[in-house]
Amino acid sequence: MNTPQTSAAGSTSDASETGPGPRWWPNPFKELKARRAINDRLAALDPETEFHEISKLVVGRVFADGFFNDALFTVAYWRQIAVRTIAPVLHQSGRGKTYETTKRVDDTLLFFGFMYRDGWQTRAAGATIDRLAAIHERFQIPSDDFRYTLSGLCFEAVRIPEILGCQVLNDGEARALFLFWREVGRRWGIDVPEEQAAFRAWMAHYEETTYTRTPEGPLLATAMADDFCKRFFPGPLKRLGYTVLRCCADDHLLDTVGQPHPSQVSRRIIGLFVRAYAAFRRWVPASSSAQLLRPWNREYGEALDPMTVGPDWARKIAPEDRRREKAGQCPFAAAKAALHTTEDA
Ligand code: HEM
Repeated sequence: MNTPQTSAAGSTSDASETGPGPRWWPNPFKELKARRAINDRLAALDPETEFHEISKLVVGRVFADGFFNDALFTVAYWRQIAVRTIAPVLHQSGRGKTYETTKRVDDTLLFFGFMYRDGWQTRAAGATIDRLAAIHERFQIPSDDFRYTLSGLCFEAVRIPEILGCQVLNDGEARALFLFWREVGRRWGIDVPEEQAAFRAWMAHYEETTYTRTPEGPLLATAMADDFCKRFFPGPLKRLGYTVLRCCADDHLLDTVGQPHPSQVSRRIIGLFVRAYAAFRRWVPASSSAQLLRPWNREYGEALDPMTVGPDWARKIAPEDRRREKAGQCPFAAAKAALHTTEDA
């Protein structure tokens, strides 16, 4: 399929979002108008060609609340932990960076923010993806596990509301997220199915065949959930924080990562809350300016650079350290990615 190159420039330019900045607007009416204009902009975009722009607006402005994105990420991370070959890699004999949870979560969401901001189409965006791929080459990771992690980025924002009995993204936005992450994945060298439905079916089959309770899984799941609660449900609210996360997961996932099932009533109440949240954000998006990086930059301040963000051991890893011919990555996609980089130069 011909992949359109969407414009990252224009009225939604957010290339300057590098560090802490004012979130408060002196004129609340002007701010409200600016936020509401995002809905009009979204409605005018075509998911088949402008999927990068749609993804940026949905994640970075309409639903830019840290609470929402961290809950989504934590449950998506539980899904990685449930796969029998992924949990041991993340655990790393108890030394995995998952256990330095706050930094790990911030760094990961920063990387995702860079990707949403920059896309995959330019040399700079490709360099971020290459650096991330180089970081992963330090571990033995089967190619199917990469594909599975990517499927979470494509579909988890749709699946969680389904579990809760509501809808947050419309079909066009869900399509845009799939197309966006498919292109990022292909730039990485991951072999991603062409069609949305086929990829989702592959994801479901992979879960059926690979979800296994490992000794590491419950430890990792608790570390991640504790960090989420520390940020958004501190002290006595922790139990509620856990309930929120559990309601966003299905029973198969909960059993695999060692979490108890929530009651049907809890699931219904959390579903109503998410429905109300989504309706409110459709009326007033979370921010008129991009918030893809700011919520997660406590360590770096204004010195945000995808070439230095990441675990301390990875500080010196650069995009060019990547071995493109590495087994497990689709050679055709890697060649295509190399071609794109040359064209962009
Ligand atoms: C497309 C798929 C994937 C994406 C987009 C992705 C994303 C990321 C990001 C953004 C980081 C940086 C976080 C940080 O700086 O601490 C990271 C680190 C890491 N990822 Fe992935 N990842 C993917 C697949 C996987 C898979 C399948 C595994 C395991 C089997 C894995 C294991 C790791 C490990 C071990 C680290 C280093 C930090 C640590 O020790 O926890 N990743 N990943």
